[in-house]
Amino acid sequence: MIKIALPKGRLGQKILSLFGVNNISRKLIFNLPDFNISCLWVKPFDVPVYVELGTADAGIVGSDVLMERDCDVYELLSMNAGKCRISVAAPDNFSDDADNVLKVATELPKIASDYFASLGRMVDIIPLRGSTELAAITGLAHVIVDIVETGETLRANNLREIAKITDISGKVIVNKSAYKFKRSEIDTFIRKVHEIIYPL
Ligand code: PRP
Repeated sequence: MIKIALPKGRLGQKILSLFGVNNISRKLIFNLPDFNISCLWVKPFDVPVYVELGTADAGIVGSDVLMERDCDVYELLSMNAGKCRISVAAPDNFSDDADNVLKVATELPKIASDYFASLGRMVDIIPLRGSTELAAITGLAHVIVDIVETGETLRANNLREIAKITDISGKVIVNKSAYKFKRSEIDTFIRKVHEIIYPL
């Protein structure tokens, strides 16, 4: 069996349900014999670490994570699952003042810094670990840079998207040496993922 790192959370749950698994226990390692894989259930930002260091042969992760942290792995497949976008959002009544340093709360500090640097906008990045919407509501930050899928979380918190930074989607990443030595198992896994994500 090859080892696959799967991201805990929305994308991982979606992938598992496409694999036909709807109930996951608190176990962090479990086998999917139909796919000939053993799954490591890890935090999304840790997926590239497990794959690059070879503890997992391959992994599935959002492209936001790959943009945010450097990792030396092969990216072999972009998936239809996990499609969403990274956007700048602000309270409904926000109006930008270019003379002020913009306070930006985010779980994606590199993507946010690169984006505002490309605009030549001075910002203070406030790194957070989640629920960044709260930062914009409470005034901790002027705006947030966050993932938007349905837009429901923004609407529920009276926030609006003011700019899209980029589209993102799920990716299959593979450890470089595993791709040399376990090529046929990995190719079989990727073919199966491909069949599921792009049903004929
Ligand atoms: C993500 C993201 C937004 C929300 C967007 O959070 O950070 O908060 O989903 O989805 P929507 O547009 O469909 O409402 P997640 O639920 O992963 O939790 P987090 O805030 O802890 O990152």
